[in-house]
Amino acid sequence: MRDDSLIRRPPDPDRPRRYHIKTWGCQMNVHDSEKIAGRLEDRGYRRADDEHDADVILLNTCSIREKAEDKVYDELGRLRRLKESRAGLVVGVCGCVAQQEGERILERAPHVDAVLGPRAGGTLGDLLDRIDRGDSGGRVGGRAIADTALRRDSIDFPFERIRRDGLDARKAYVTVVEGCNHRCTYCIVPTTRGREVCRSSGEILREVAFLAAKSVIEIEFLGQTVNAYRDPEGRTLADLLRGAANVPGVRRVRFTTSHPAQMTPELISAMAETAPVTSPYLHLPVQSGSSRVLAEMKRGYDREGYLRRIAALRERLPGLCLGTDVIVGYPTETEADFRETLSLLEAVEFDTCFSFAYSPRPGTAAAAIDDPVPLAQKLERLARLQELQKGIQFRRAQRWVGSAVEVLIEGASRRQDREWTGRTPENRVVNFAGHGSVGQLQWVRVVRASAFSLRGEPCTPGESS
Ligand code: SAH
Ligand code: SF4
Ligand code: F3S
Repeated sequence: MRDDSLIRRPPDPDRPRRYHIKTWGCQMNVHDSEKIAGRLEDRGYRRADDEHDADVILLNTCSIREKAEDKVYDELGRLRRLKESRAGLVVGVCGCVAQQEGERILERAPHVDAVLGPRAGGTLGDLLDRIDRGDSGGRVGGRAIADTALRRDSIDFPFERIRRDGLDARKAYVTVVEGCNHRCTYCIVPTTRGREVCRSSGEILREVAFLAAKSVIEIEFLGQTVNAYRDPEGRTLADLLRGAANVPGVRRVRFTTSHPAQMTPELISAMAETAPVTSPYLHLPVQSGSSRVLAEMKRGYDREGYLRRIAALRERLPGLCLGTDVIVGYPTETEADFRETLSLLEAVEFDTCFSFAYSPRPGTAAAAIDDPVPLAQKLERLARLQELQKGIQFRRAQRWVGSAVEVLIEGASRRQDREWTGRTPENRVVNFAGHGSVGQLQWVRVVRASAFSLRGEPCTPGESS
């Protein structure tokens, strides 16, 4: 017989209800999970690190590539079995797959109780009301909740209520702009996140001050196109960088993700003026080195335009580290186009590069194009690109050997006891052994460098060999 006692019971202060959130995708999604957790904790829920202890399990999903979406359905299959063995367990799907698929999730996975798009956080309250009332699985008349409205006020979430994970490491995300007004032909984000909405700069800087008062020293401004930020008074990301750098206690400011077409001279100047508080690291996705492919993708810049921006950045910010994203095997990409991407990577010498095989996304313009590039060829190109980039990164990383870098410790290294891992202002990962604690700034002398991380020993400030 089905035991509904768990959900029928009114909230019990001695045994608060528990939630478990599983998150995929970008920093914006990670931060959305912190907002969802805030809503749940406001309602008396407590976090369950193990899903088996949870009364509500939420999947905060990503649909940027097909594989990411497939993982969600795999996970839902697993949760169906868990639900069968646990009366009253509530399962919800949030984020970009929820937005993209909507009610289709309920058809494919009828055990799901709620589907909430990235701007439907408020409806989570309705689900919790239903659970409080004892409606089975949060359902009324057997009906699950599905909300994919792209509300503009979702951006007004009260920052005091966010349940932040990075506080121990004294790091925090701050939303600047939600959504994206670009229409890159391959990309699902404008569909899943809607049009751009910007927060007011006053509110953003109040949040920065609030965080600094909580001992946060590293702020990361977030937006799918963070440098598109413009508030109703015309303030831009450049103004936010200047404002945040002036907040006492703030030692590092990062921002992600920037669009090359919106990398204005004003923003570059603000980065230079506010250095070293503004991180000497910039993530600037190029996607392809071929002007023909960039035009097909509707990226709004060509190879030369991108290279000009990199030159302007390096001129004003000589120590700048650069990262990028590349899509390999866009429909119609020829071997010659692909070689232009390789030559761009050689010309720029990025410090990091995230590269992906093109994946068709439902409803995007590129998905309708005949794609003569077989998957095996895309994967072969991807492997060649990654091999080349690994060599570039290895060479670039060697310049750190012998120098002293300031590391913000993020956690214990996975590999060994009493080993710490953290990042430099340039976003380089550094591992070292010695005394330390999460959230501490520690000077480290780099003794070895691989393509992906640096290894060092604790030292005194400014000491190098
Ligand atoms: N807003 C960022 C990108 C966000 S998505 C920007 O404009 O650069 C993160 C990365 O995923 C993109 O930079 C792109 O390289 C990759 N990506 C997006 N859609 C993709 C697709 N359909 N197939 C493969 N990679 C994709
Ligand atoms: Fe997607 Fe392009 Fe917007 Fe980036 S700028 S989120 S790639 S549509
Ligand atoms: Fe994925 Fe949505 Fe972010 S598709 S990358 S979680 S905006």
